Amino acid sequence: MTSHTSRLVVIGGGNMGSALVGGLVQSGWDPSTITVVEIDAAKCAQLEKDLGVRTSNVVVAAEGALIAVKPGDVVGVCEQVAATGTPRVLSIAAGISVATLQQAVGSTVVAVRAMPNTPALVKEGVTAICGSSACTEEDYAWAESLLSAVGLVVRVPELQMDAVTAVAGSGPAYIFLMAEALLAAAIAEGLPHDVADALVRQLFRGSGILLADSSDSPATLREKVTSPNGTTAAGLAVFEESKLREIVHNVVKAAAARSAEMGK
Ligand SMILES: NC(=O)c1ccc[n+]([C@@H]2O[C@H](COP(=O)([O-])OP(=O)(O)OC[C@H]3O[C@@H](n4cnc5c(N)ncnc54)[C@H](OP(=O)(O)O)[C@@H]3O)[C@@H](O)[C@H]2O)c1
Repeated sequence: MTSHTSRLVVIGGGNMGSALVGGLVQSGWDPSTITVVEIDAAKCAQLEKDLGVRTSNVVVAAEGALIAVKPGDVVGVCEQVAATGTPRVLSIAAGISVATLQQAVGSTVVAVRAMPNTPALVKEGVTAICGSSACTEEDYAWAESLLSAVGLVVRVPELQMDAVTAVAGSGPAYIFLMAEALLAAAIAEGLPHDVADALVRQLFRGSGILLADSSDSPATLREKVTSPNGTTAAGLAVFEESKLREIVHNVVKAAAARSAEMGK
């Protein structure tokens, strides 16, 4: 428990909240300036032990608040944060609009909405942020300084948040499904499970780093692996015949539509 004014209060010490706090501490934040508000006493003890942060079971005042509870708990938590006089709120809850956040915190608090993804757990996330019209450059810079501790941050208009959610929020699952399918195919083609598993994990790591670090487009990188009439060309032809591009577009469309529906 603490009553001093922290630099940052993080409400919700679950997967995302702890990953963000871990990233901030690793990037040089003094852990004693961070208070994590969490209702689970065991999680509090773990966070204090692992990261050296303060913990509390009630919302405390801070220079800014990061809200990392489930979407259904966000409005109530926003109201509690506003009551402490904390001037800025950053919510990472899926589907909770800036207008809803702003309404819950009132006109004296600035609200920013963010959509991170699970690679934030290994500090390789990508987070899109958007704010209300009251949001200044300083408010955006504050939000970016927090979220950049766990990966890349991009600013988007809120209208694009459903598409961001469909591509980057849900995206890790698309990649993991592809890894699952490749693993099953490798085993079906006669590879032992441990070899297939090592091949697939390193394939995604290596290709991901190559793509992220290269100035080439994904299409150019693909072409560089594909000799005419070679093995890759034979494999890729099956994807094209099966209309993979159309399938991927439909996948993203369905996820974006669901995101829009959940935000209502
Ligand atoms: N995980 C993702 O991939 C992802 C991606 C983008 C956005 N998000 C968003 O991130 C948020 C957190 O997700 P998560 O996966 O980290 O969830 P999580 O692991 O369940 O973490 C939420 C934590 O907040 C605690 N909590 C709930 N109400 C509270 C309150 N009033 N005061 C203090 N603590 C409270 C929960 O405790 P109990 O468990 O005891 O309820 C839990 O420890 C969600 O809004 C989600 O939409 C997640």
